[in-house]
Amino acid sequence: MLTGRHGPKRDQDEPLDVVQTRNRTWWEATPMTYDWRRRVPSAWDASAWFDEQDRRFLANAAFYATDRDPFDRFLPYAALRGKQVLEIGVGSGLHAELLARAGAHMTGIDLTAAAISRTERRFALKGLAGRFFQWDAEQPLPEFDRAFDFVWSWGVIHHSSRSGVIVRNVHDWLRPDGTFAGMVYHRDSINAAVSVVRDWVLHGGIGRHSVDEALWRGTDGYMARFYSAETWRDFLLAFFASAKTRVTGQKLEVLPLPRGVREAVLPMVGDRRARHVLDRFGSFLTFEARGPNGL
Ligand SMILES: C[S@@+](CC[C@H](N)C(=O)[O-])C[C@H]1O[C@@H](n2cnc3c(N)ncnc32)[C@H](O)[C@@H]1O
Repeated sequence: MLTGRHGPKRDQDEPLDVVQTRNRTWWEATPMTYDWRRRVPSAWDASAWFDEQDRRFLANAAFYATDRDPFDRFLPYAALRGKQVLEIGVGSGLHAELLARAGAHMTGIDLTAAAISRTERRFALKGLAGRFFQWDAEQPLPEFDRAFDFVWSWGVIHHSSRSGVIVRNVHDWLRPDGTFAGMVYHRDSINAAVSVVRDWVLHGGIGRHSVDEALWRGTDGYMARFYSAETWRDFLLAFFASAKTRVTGQKLEVLPLPRGVREAVLPMVGDRRARHVLDRFGSFLTFEARGPNGL
């Protein structure tokens, strides 16, 4: 096991079962929140906590995800009313809420009990309907077969020990005209390059750590795979009739500088210029794959 910026990290030779146990332990101990810099001053099960988390996340995401309604560049709200929708890796449940408010019949799974408690609490506080349970998306689930019109997964699949098995399961869980959409981490990104340089040059990992290990040491979670747009699309096409990818990222990624300097300089960078860079070198590789093959 290696150690990195956010605690223990996977090394290349670890057996995948061990990796998945440690993935789960990591996310149980560090449930997905958006308060890592300034803690939200209320308990996680209170309305105020969810409101403040969502405000922070959506303010940041407005740059890359939103035209009019939160995340409408990626979530086709109008087409999802009355549809069966599965979210893999619900975290604290914000995307599940957006989907439920659009009229989707929501099912959500997550590797951890912590994420399921948060999402169930969110739905109870807001009077929304959905079913959520702890499940590892790598595991087959016959009741899901051909059950969903749309499967959504934002920032999750790359954190699993067998990402490819999840994509195969999604193929099995979608209806013939179903769509799979979401985001995985992008390898040809400024963030990824910075992680490798930091590990290889600043921390002396060169010649000791593979590129993957260098990336794992700089990422959130116990591990994360990073894909080039070409590799991820090619991989999706093994399971789906069509697949599109798009690169984007958070505006602050254009300035790989220490936080204080970055915050001072960022307002001087125009959105257009930042988008121009992030459309190629952002850290998010978003995708939409349609028509599971062979159905
Ligand atoms: C980075 S968080 C993202 C959460 C949420 N999608 C968001 O954008 O806020 C990753 C989440 O994926 C979950 N996860 C990781 N591997 C998983 C798997 N194999 N099956 C289900 N959930 C998984 C983790 O427990 C964690 O809650």
